[in-house]
Parts: sequence; C-alpha cells; structure tokens
Amino acid sequence: MRIPMIAGNWKMNTTVSEAIELVNEMRQELDQIDNVDKVICPPFVSLAAIKEVIEGSSIKLGAQNIYFEEKGAYTGEISPLMLADLCEFVIIGHSERRQHFNETGEIVDKKVKAALKVGLKPILCIGERLEENEAGRTEEVLTEQLNSSSDRIYYFSGLVLAYEPIWAIGTGRAATGEQANETIGFIRQYISQQHGEKVAHNVRILYGGSVTADNIAEFINQPEIDGALVGGASLKASEFLSIVKQTSEI
Ligand code: 13P
Repeated sequence: MRIPMIAGNWKMNTTVSEAIELVNEMRQELDQIDNVDKVICPPFVSLAAIKEVIEGSSIKLGAQNIYFEEKGAYTGEISPLMLADLCEFVIIGHSERRQHFNETGEIVDKKVKAALKVGLKPILCIGERLEENEAGRTEEVLTEQLNSSSDRIYYFSGLVLAYEPIWAIGTGRAATGEQANETIGFIRQYISQQHGEKVAHNVRILYGGSVTADNIAEFINQPEIDGALVGGASLKASEFLSIVKQTSEI
C-alpha cells in the first residue's frame, strides 16, 4: 500500500527565526502522528537550522528547488550535492517556477535526474492553467508535462508526483475531491501505459491547490489521491497539524 504524504511548501515565507519558531510549535505533536509521511519544505536558508530542530523525529525535510549541475560557476544556485546533505525531498517543477523563472520541461527533467542521481526524492509538480482547463485540455497538458519528464521506469519509481491545477493554487478555489481524483486517476493510468502497472500502482500522487484543514478529508478519502502538497495552510501550525492528523486517520 502507498503511505500517504502531507508536504508543506512554505514558499518564500519565514525568516530563519520564524521558521524555527513554526517548527517548534508543531514538532512534538507532528512527530507522534503515524501512518503518514510528514514533510516540511522551508526556504533554503532555514534548512540547516531546521534539520537540527527535527533531528531524531519522524518529520522529514524537503527543499523547494534545485539546480541541475553538481558544482561550479553558477552564482546563487544550490546544487544537488548540497541538498543531499540536508534533506530527503526536493520540490521540482512547481508552477510558480515554470511561470516566473521560465523553467521548461527540459529544465525540469534535468533537475529531476540530478536529484535522483544523488539520492534526493523529487516531488515533481504538474498541472494545467485555468484557460487550458476550461478548453478541456487538461489531459493533453499533463501528458505533455509527463512526457517531457523522461522515458525511464526508474524515474517514476523514485519520485512523488503532485498534481497542482494552477487555477487552484493560492486562490481559495480548490478542485473538488472528485475532480482531483479523476485527474490523478488519469495520471496513474498514463504512467501505467508508459511504464507498467507496478510502477503506476506504487507511485504516490498528491493533490495541491488551496488545501486546508476544512477540505483535506474530501481529497484523502479518494482512492487515487495519496496526500497533499499544502501551501498557505502549512504556515499555520494548528492548521497543518490538523491536516496531517486527519490524513493519518483514514
Ligand atoms: P496553496 O495551498 O497556498 O494553494 O498552494 C499550493 C501549492 O502551490 C503547494 O505547492
């Protein structure tokens, strides 16, 4: 069976001291919740400090981005080797990076491969824009995004996917549980066709987009949905704890 996962993407929020405070607020309770992978993804600058705060607990750490080269003259970038030392997961291909930082499918693919090479587990984000959704092009867009992401089975065995419809991110307009389940079912079916049933059955696929403590149940009770990638609601300790708790109880 696939273990559910709740990952908090803090995006560009919290100073180092605020990040430590937020983790301290939920560390003990979060640590005690079983049957769900609990991942927090703070900004790069807080990773080292938070690694220490969660040492010895069941809370896992993730980064929000990565560069694909191992080292060298790439001023300002963070390499896979640096991250492998600090965390277990890394979010790759978030729509905000595709949109604001011009990340193409090719770049995303390079990043996923670079992460896997050093043993980091990518949380690969895919999702369609509102106009693509309204034009009935969701499956086509997702297929394109999945296609630009390599042809090898190992690739899908090593990662977590997150379906994040762009129109649902930060808008308060989440997809319905049925909508998300249907689309994630499509993604799983596509992976099955490309890489076989076993790979498709084992890969965890999360939903992301305006997930809160009030609507998480709607998603995690769906058979195809293995958890959530949570943005805004992951910045409030009580809200994130409630999301994780509800997920552990399904
Ligand atoms: P919100 O939960 O704030 O809509 O953000 C979702 C997201 O982008 C997580 O990666």
